[in-house]
Parts: sequence; C-alpha cells; structure tokens
Amino acid sequence: MTMQTRTLGSTGPQVSALGLGCMGMSALYGEADRAESIATIHAALEAGVTLLDTGDFYGVGHNELLIGEALRSAPAARREQALVSVKFGALRDPDGGWSGYDGRPAAVKNFAAYSLQRLGVDHIDVYRIARLDPDVPIEETVGAIAELVEKGYVRHVGLSEVGAETIRRAAATAPIADLQIEYSLISRGIETEILPTTRELGISVTAYGVLSRGLISGHVTSDRPLAANDFRNFLPRFQGKNLQHNLNLVEALRKIAEQKGASVAQIAIAWVLSRGEDIVPLVGARTRERLGESLGALDVTLDTADLAAIEEAVPPGAAAGERYGAAQMAHVEL
Ligand SMILES: NC(=O)c1ccc[n+]([C@@H]2O[C@H](COP(=O)([O-])OP(=O)(O)OC[C@H]3O[C@@H](n4cnc5c(N)ncnc54)[C@H](OP(=O)(O)O)[C@@H]3O)[C@@H](O)[C@H]2O)c1
Repeated sequence: MTMQTRTLGSTGPQVSALGLGCMGMSALYGEADRAESIATIHAALEAGVTLLDTGDFYGVGHNELLIGEALRSAPAARREQALVSVKFGALRDPDGGWSGYDGRPAAVKNFAAYSLQRLGVDHIDVYRIARLDPDVPIEETVGAIAELVEKGYVRHVGLSEVGAETIRRAAATAPIADLQIEYSLISRGIETEILPTTRELGISVTAYGVLSRGLISGHVTSDRPLAANDFRNFLPRFQGKNLQHNLNLVEALRKIAEQKGASVAQIAIAWVLSRGEDIVPLVGARTRERLGESLGALDVTLDTADLAAIEEAVPPGAAAGERYGAAQMAHVEL
C-alpha cells in the first residue's frame, strides 16, 4: 500500500493522511501492553504513517519515553521519516491529578528541554500547548515556540483546542501548521466557526477523537465494563442513557458499513478523511489489530450517496452528552 499524504497548513510538513495518536499507550484508557505499543508504532511506520502524536503529560513522560524507545529500535529509514507532534503545558501532580496549564515562555522552553531529552531527538516537529493558559496571552506562548523554531529545536508551531479568536491571534504571531481539535461524526462543533477560520488562514486540522474515544468504533457495548482507571468512566457520552442512545447511532452506522464491506470504525475514519485535504485524522490505536483496521479506512471511498446515508444515520448534533465533563469543558474554547 502506498500511503496517501497531506500537508499541514500552508507552511507545514507533508505527513501521512492518517496520524497515530499514542496517548492510550500510556494513559487514560486503562492498562496498555508496552511491547504491543512499540510493535504498533513500528507497524505504523512500516505502513507509511509518518505522524506520531504525543503529550509530555501522557503518563507523565511515559509516552515520550515509549516513543523514543520505538524510534531508536525502528529501522533508520523509518525513524528518519517520523514526525513527532508534542503537546505541553498540562501540570500534573504525583497523585496523577491535573492542576492547570502553564504557557509562560520560560515554562515553554523548560517543557521542550525535557521533551527533547525523553524522546531522544534533536528537534520536535510540531510543538503546541495542549490548552490555553488563561493567565498568559497566546502571543507569548506562541512567541516562545517561535524562538525554539529559530534555534532549531522545533520545526513547526501548532495549536490545540482553541477557538477562532485565539487562532487569529496566534497566526498573527507566527506561522501555524495545524490546529489539533476533536472532530468526528458526533463532534462537529468546529464546522461553524473554527474550520472556516483555519481554512481562511491556511492552517490544517489534525482531528482527534475521530472514533469518539472508541464509542463509535463498533467495538463498544453497554455491557463491557471499562477498567476503573479508564477516564471514559467520566465522559458524559459513556454514561447510562447517553451510552445507549449513542450506541443506537453506531448500529445505524453499522448497516451502512456492512453495505460498504467496511467496519464501523473505518466508515467513521473515512468520513473525517472525506471532510477535506486539510484534515488529518489521528487514530488512537494501541494494538496492531486496531491499527490495521484504521489504516483500512484509507481504502474506503465514500460517494455522495454514502455521505448522505451517513448524515441521515448520524445527523449533526445526534450524540447524547458533551464530549468532556464540565471541568474539562472549562479548558476548551469550543
Ligand atoms: N489535543 C488534544 O486535546 C487531544 C485530546 C485527546 C487525544 N489527542 C490525541 O489524539 C489521539 C487520538 O485520540 P483518542 O485516542 O482519544 O481517540 P480515538 O481514536 O477516537 O479513540 C481511541 C480508542 O478507540 C478504540 N478503538 C476501537 N477501534 C479502533 C480502531 N479501529 N482504531 C483505533 N482505535 C480504535 C481504541 O481501542 P482500544 O481501547 O481497544 O485500544 C481506543 O480506546 C490521542 O492518542 C492523542 O495523541 C489529543
């Protein structure tokens, strides 16, 4: 298979049309298998995936160390193709708690120094604050990343979960390659204002949660318990009646998937891919099996009739429950 590619923004790098999100290999979705995680990263690189996404706070450094190990043990040609996108800024405590965001310029440089060390690389390909620090103007945070670009420690500036006004202010400070933000069949909030803004400014979208944390993957059932430390226990869409309502949407999608000879996850990923060349879905696969299924989405072509059937099965706003709980919604600008 030849991997399809897309370009991140008008100034950014060329990347594979699907990126691999590595978060679940270290945090939030219960236990992950280290050897299988590394094998999944290797399999992704082998298949032509070039974009690996992480955050320095995923497993409090664990995810960057894991990616570093996977890159070191990959064949040189694959390692050299890999582009690593890193989020920073989330403050953690030893109990695993979260205590806000730090976007001060000195903190940005400090975070970057530790990330370079943990990843074992001499530069980070795309660097972004995970959430806006309400006490620091975005110009200062982005300005500090731009200084790291000048010094060669970072290649491109990205953004994460910010709204149209912040995007404009950031883009007036430095060239922005991409905005990372949740976008899926059941999370379409960016379509009103954010997507027109990124398109006007020549900024791409790296879409996360394209399976709504697995909810619309076709693999979740209401009787499959989540591990106690799985953060989906706290996501409104996975709760009680909301879950049942949302799984009914998945069943409607499954009928379309069966007609197309594809899986539900492949239809959900292919739908995001179909939204535009400026959109790169990040898939949160933690095993080679899930990765293989996700990559199959690249072979699914959705024509006008398919897209209409999908819209009918899952109309905009069809999901029950917000995409995050109230405390986390307070940190996003959408
Ligand atoms: N910027 C931000 O604020 C932000 C926030 C969250 C995530 N992200 C990034 O985006 C990446 C993806 O996000 P996500 O993991 O939350 O979303 P996701 O891709 O919607 O969900 C991943 C979950 O879906 C399950 N799944 C079921 N079928 C799958 C398949 N065929 N392929 C892949 N996964 C399948 C996985 O399964 P199993 O449980 O079976 O492994 C995993 O639990 C993250 O890894 C992270 O890098 C960014």
